[in-house]
Amino acid sequence: MLDLCITNCKLEIGAEEVCLGINNEKIVSIKKLPSKAHETIDLRGKLILPGLIDAHVHFRDPGLTIKEDFSTGSAAAAAGGFTTVMDMPNTIPPTNTPQDFREKMGIASRKSLVDFGLHAGVADLSNMGKLAKLRPASFKIFMDLVDDDFLMDAFSKINGVSGDHLISLHAEDPQVVNQCTHEMKMKGSSPELYAEARPPQAEIEAVVSAISLGNKFDQKIHFCHVSTRKSLKLINEAKKAGSKITSEITPHHLFLDSGCLKTYGNRTKTNPPLRDNENRLQVNDLNYIDIIGTDHAPHTLDEKKKDVWNAPPGIPGLETVLPLLLTQLNQGKIALGDIKRLLCETPAKIFNIPHKGFIREGMDADLVVVDLKKESVIDPASFQSKAKYSPFEGFHVQGLPVMTMVRGKLVMQDGEILKNQGKFVYPDTVNIKRIYSN
Ligand code: DOR
Ligand code: ZN
Ligand code: ZN
Repeated sequence: MLDLCITNCKLEIGAEEVCLGINNEKIVSIKKLPSKAHETIDLRGKLILPGLIDAHVHFRDPGLTIKEDFSTGSAAAAAGGFTTVMDMPNTIPPTNTPQDFREKMGIASRKSLVDFGLHAGVADLSNMGKLAKLRPASFKIFMDLVDDDFLMDAFSKINGVSGDHLISLHAEDPQVVNQCTHEMKMKGSSPELYAEARPPQAEIEAVVSAISLGNKFDQKIHFCHVSTRKSLKLINEAKKAGSKITSEITPHHLFLDSGCLKTYGNRTKTNPPLRDNENRLQVNDLNYIDIIGTDHAPHTLDEKKKDVWNAPPGIPGLETVLPLLLTQLNQGKIALGDIKRLLCETPAKIFNIPHKGFIREGMDADLVVVDLKKESVIDPASFQSKAKYSPFEGFHVQGLPVMTMVRGKLVMQDGEILKNQGKFVYPDTVNIKRIYSN
């Protein structure tokens, strides 16, 4: 007798329905006929995907819980079809020390409805060894906030810590950013000035120096939110030449351009900024990108109402990305395989999270059911996130997540959020190769 049997599921569009058997939080069978179980859920032919994994969220807990906390952030994740999130270290205090890392683990364990990993911040380099033992998803460096000497020391130190650690990078060069921001501030305070305050060249220069540092130390690096054609080209050339690099794009950099700063104002202010048509990336570039990370970066609307130089950068993304992508799928612009690769499979592989990202026997029963026919208009007022704004407000979407399950437990059904206790997940470089060998 299994815990749960999910019947009449489609794993692919047009495929024959199957039944998923779930026991002790894992997928234990994928069969034509149902298994005996304590509970049965009939999906009536709906599509089921591996639960989405977001390697890039800012849940603001501790310290900035007026913007978001682990309860509301993880509810937003569940609503959006995500079953695992990885939280960034720029909280208050930042997740830079073993003590603060443990503190955040405690908060998230108590509050998170979905499974979670934590990125470690890089400040006091004497902490790297001890932090590494706590199994951060990666060491995150905001290149816009550090100088070249620190960056070199950080790479050297992290690379020297035993184990195989990943460095995630916010790649913007501080000198270009400071110089251009200064120049743009002279011109006034309209939001459209923001794109040129942190121009493509800021990202490109940071990408060039990070690639060369990565090569010097033979260090794995992950570029967060790649936003320009040129940086993506440089990244892919370096990959071809053997550098250990992975790349991420946000939904806002994928679907929007800098023209939105004029139309929507500071709600579309983000770092790196949205790009003009010449520089931006688009859906057909997804073939050359490893993952989509939402960079869910909630702020209060009051803060967003300040002038462009004082409004904080960041856009919430957890509750809009899947509907946006399913809409593209319905329009024939992307394949279902791309959604799974970018939001389930490759995030699990890059961050070495075992048992997630695939619907296979032995994997965690992390699942999202989607209704490809259901239509909706994006309405931030209905978000679970505390950040009730979105540059995608008013967009018509077709294709919505209707059920999210974390290790066999329902956390979202028809938009309603249910209680659950999320678990800390961490890179497991030892078991990962065996688990994802095929
Ligand atoms: O737009 C951004 N918001 N970029 C960052 O790098 C930080 C983030 C935040 O924490 O708000
Ligand atoms: Zn960033
Ligand atoms: Zn971020």
